[in-house]
Amino acid sequence: MKVELKKGIYWVGAIDWTIRDFHGYSTHKGSTYNAYLIVGEKVALVDTVKAPFFEEMMGRISEIMPPERIDYLIANHVEMDHSGSLPLFKKALPKVEVLCSPRAKGELSLHYGDAIPFKVVKTGDILDLGGKTLTFVEIPMVHWPDSMATYVKEDKTLLPNDAFGQHIASAERFDDELGWDAIRPEAAKYYANIVMPYGPQVLKALEALRDIEIEVIGPSHGVIWRKHIPEIVATYEKWAKGETEKRALVVYDTMWGSTEKMAQAINRGVMEEGVSTKLYRLRVSDNSDIVQELLESRGLVLGSPTLNNGLFPSVAEFSCYIKGLRPKGRLAAVFGSYGWGKGAATKALTTDLQAAGMEVMEELQV
Ligand code: FEO
Repeated sequence: MKVELKKGIYWVGAIDWTIRDFHGYSTHKGSTYNAYLIVGEKVALVDTVKAPFFEEMMGRISEIMPPERIDYLIANHVEMDHSGSLPLFKKALPKVEVLCSPRAKGELSLHYGDAIPFKVVKTGDILDLGGKTLTFVEIPMVHWPDSMATYVKEDKTLLPNDAFGQHIASAERFDDELGWDAIRPEAAKYYANIVMPYGPQVLKALEALRDIEIEVIGPSHGVIWRKHIPEIVATYEKWAKGETEKRALVVYDTMWGSTEKMAQAINRGVMEEGVSTKLYRLRVSDNSDIVQELLESRGLVLGSPTLNNGLFPSVAEFSCYIKGLRPKGRLAAVFGSYGWGKGAATKALTTDLQAAGMEVMEELQV
């Protein structure tokens, strides 16, 4: 099947129907690795796919034209779900010139060796394919230092790699085919688990793109935006600013049930105050699903028993994950139980959540 975003711009990526763990982040709905073929007088491929999907990508390209017609490969991002096929691609088509951001050049060489020459392009640089004019915009830390977007002027089409992505495997390739309500939760989960620490950089990138006319956004995962662009851009701005709803999460684990009794009582109390809340026991929950909820929740109440004078392991894992994602501005409280001595779990949680940029309002232990 040929998927055309605009005349002469094709999706030639791969669909990973069965992936359920994307470097530790649960992908209940699979994913796609999106690559785009831009056909002017000359031809450019934007990104490749994860290495095991190389043949699938080449098959899609071959449905449109012989791959030998490709002149340029634009590597918008170094991470291996997009650059993994690069060595195979260069081996098959050694004459193709590879373009990337200044930061990407060093990182790609570290990954794939010095044998592949990379041509550096910077923000504002232009590549004229003849009938298709490509402009490059560096978007550092959205979400790696090397990240870059490619814009096709004639078609008002933005290819921003991971930004605006979602882990969804589907036969539908466009947002209007799948619908906003189905896509938004996956876009939120993606943002929360991949992009959340970089809100200021996202706002800077949105600012850089503000004056560009955009009719299509082709991210590197999931469906292509052509109907709900105003909604996803406004929603990204909201997430990047850390705007939240009056909602709470009570997250805990328990050894002999004491911390669980506290969690249930706290959750009931939150409900009685008329605040929407969700309760998660960590050993039977998925960290990345909880973080998706945290993206738009104002409060987190986190509980752990004290084990060996420290945190219970499942809580330590969650707390470590949260510390890295830095959900700044949320309100937090911690709680826990202990058997002897002074419980250390709540102190450790307070330290972690403060390091994550959260204000810890209450520390309760029994
Ligand atoms: Fe989809 Fe940062 O790779």
